[in-house]
Amino acid sequence: MFTKTAKHYDAVYSYKDYEGESELVSKLVHEHVSNAKTLLDVACGTGNHLEHLSRQFDCTGVELDPEMLAIAAERVPNLPLHVGDMCDFDLGIKFDAVTCLFSSVGYTKTVERMEQAIANMAKHLNSGGMLLVEPWLTPEAWLVGNIDSETYKTDEFVITRMMVSEPVERGRLVLEYLIGNSNGISKVTETHEMGWFTHDEYLNAFKKAGLQIEHLAEGLTGRGIYIGIKA
Ligand SMILES: C[S@@+](CC[C@H](N)C(=O)[O-])C[C@H]1O[C@@H](n2cnc3c(N)ncnc32)[C@H](O)[C@@H]1O
Repeated sequence: MFTKTAKHYDAVYSYKDYEGESELVSKLVHEHVSNAKTLLDVACGTGNHLEHLSRQFDCTGVELDPEMLAIAAERVPNLPLHVGDMCDFDLGIKFDAVTCLFSSVGYTKTVERMEQAIANMAKHLNSGGMLLVEPWLTPEAWLVGNIDSETYKTDEFVITRMMVSEPVERGRLVLEYLIGNSNGISKVTETHEMGWFTHDEYLNAFKKAGLQIEHLAEGLTGRGIYIGIKA
């Protein structure tokens, strides 16, 4: 996870159109749950979607990494935010919509934990509510040995990030960051233990959680979207 780079997360992902994605999420929620008022964003990271979604819904966030959540708390100070693991958090309340975006579900790594996460998120849905999950890559899209690099610049620092996808179990990403500012350059390595899941594995998890499923191939960012409706 972003255990060493939480404070640089927003710079690294500044290319993402969180406002546009949130508009699409809102549209999908309103299409499926016409009177939706409450929304829980699971693995909310630094709160970028929450900032926009909270204009449409009463929002709550859950996130495993306290440092990421602290940044979210600065961004959306008026929203309830909780540290929790998507596989077993228990807020004791239910929502009209639950979202899990930007492939966060891939961090569950195994089919067993992915199924636990889907069931746990479904548990937090009101009857008629909607679970929306943006998946991680499928095995077909996972390019073993793929190397990529990107550079990000702000007024305060420059980050060059190189990543390689390793053929470990269901896939592991190793990320090397060179972070430079007026004091010099530091190097940080992060290993992201993730799991690719097949389309059928996602479908099965939604079915096991008692949800009616719809899959949109394009989704918000080209990775697709799974939508589950609780009866
Ligand atoms: C790619 S980031 C996405 C963050 C945010 N949803 C966004 O769109 O910017 C993945 C997030 O999942 C969180 N995460 C990983 N495993 C988790 C778990 N088991 N439960 C909750 N959050 C988790 C990470 O800490 C990280 O913030």
